[in-house]
Amino acid sequence: MVSKPKRVFACTSCGAQHPKWLGRCPDCGAWNALVEEVVASKEPARRAQGAFADPMPLPQAPRAAGARLATGIAELDRVLGGGFVPASSVLVGGDPGIGKSTLLLQAAAALARQGHACLYWTAEESPAQVRMRAERLQALAEDVHVLHAAELEAGEAALAAHAYAFVVVDSIQTVFTEALTSAPGTVAQVRECAHRLARLAKERGFALALVGHVTKEGAIAGPKVLEHLVDTVLLFEGDRGLAHRILRAVKNRFGAAGEVGVFEMGDAGLRGVDEVSRFFLAGRTADASGVVALAALEGTRALMVEVQALVAPTAFAQAKRTAVGADAARLMMLAALMEQRLGLAFSQHDIYLNVAGGLRLVEPAADLAVALALVSSLSNAPLGGDLAVFGEVGLAGELRPVAQPQARVHEAARLGFRRVLLPAASLARVREALAKAKLGKSPELLGARTLKEALELVGLGRSGLR
Ligand code: TYD
Ligand code: MG
Repeated sequence: MVSKPKRVFACTSCGAQHPKWLGRCPDCGAWNALVEEVVASKEPARRAQGAFADPMPLPQAPRAAGARLATGIAELDRVLGGGFVPASSVLVGGDPGIGKSTLLLQAAAALARQGHACLYWTAEESPAQVRMRAERLQALAEDVHVLHAAELEAGEAALAAHAYAFVVVDSIQTVFTEALTSAPGTVAQVRECAHRLARLAKERGFALALVGHVTKEGAIAGPKVLEHLVDTVLLFEGDRGLAHRILRAVKNRFGAAGEVGVFEMGDAGLRGVDEVSRFFLAGRTADASGVVALAALEGTRALMVEVQALVAPTAFAQAKRTAVGADAARLMMLAALMEQRLGLAFSQHDIYLNVAGGLRLVEPAADLAVALALVSSLSNAPLGGDLAVFGEVGLAGELRPVAQPQARVHEAARLGFRRVLLPAASLARVREALAKAKLGKSPELLGARTLKEALELVGLGRSGLR
């Protein structure tokens, strides 16, 4: 006899359990924190005390099952760290219409072509809609099965009956389990379904890809609900009005977090961009003031992006600071620092900062580029198109070394930049690497110890300021 699963409402803030939903947790007083949960039976816990409880020497631990499933879609494989990992789960998040379904259907078709059985489980669209998309993508493959179901139990039965290597669930917010009374898409449902699917992936050995919609606050299905349940979280970003999309690994147990892939949406789906730096620098007006080429590092890849600033006298009581694609707090810090230490009158100017191409810079190595862009715009003095820069700026105005300086210089050189401005502390390491790499023409290296020195080296020192 199957007994009905027992349910409780657990507080996400203090962990207390209550028999029914309440607006406020009586134990800790948190509002809206109670989430429905299925009480797990105690049976499995007792069994687990058997053979597996013995510690073992690390070399005797079993190896990971199977090789990675490389899709051959280079930008996707790069972000995953080489491909999907069997028995693991990946969450792909992003705004509606950004291309999540497209990308995962393309991935499934690519894996099917290599002979892997794939399941595209859709709770959102009809099989006819999936077929139509597949035809458009040239992804109509015999080895891609489609399942249309919204109940978790129905999908679980299908997964138990067939052996799949790769399973897409589109989307986790529309799948629901009958074990909970909560509505589909609620935190309780999403968490329970994702948890059971991830566990099934481990047991059955398939690679699982969950599609997740991003909430208005930018989190995937509520505050971090899913992120710790899965091994890898990929976020699809980009303006729906623009053709290109950026896929970023926010978390990855099997690869570098922060890795990005760049795609273009076309008539036949998403296509990886081969020359990422050229792509981000396209349309560059190198002789304008306020623009600086930054040698950035995203994950393990160095790439060139343009940082743009517009500094204009303010008409407001308090000057505006706006950052698109960059950290607003760091922008304010840099403006305040230059005001204090270099006497530049940023407090009387509005600042608009933009990273061209829709990339979001998260590393402090962008500081020097931001600072130079601000000064260049303020003084209306172009820096010239042959200069690339990188480096973190400290509160004392010092230039701090950043990760992978040699990879950054190498990428700048490859794209024809003839001068690279960098923290002096990285010079030795870069020179050594350049000597080994035997570049045809090495760029001129300008090492600076402070922001002030950096400005002087590129002609924006006190005398250069107007
Ligand atoms: P989709 O993958 O359905 O987005 P998501 O699953 O993230 O909601 O992609 C939707 C958009 O992509 C839609 O506006 C149409 C566009 N698109 C193309 O431009 N070319 C294509 O080949 C496909 C399949 C979609
Ligand atoms: Mg979709």
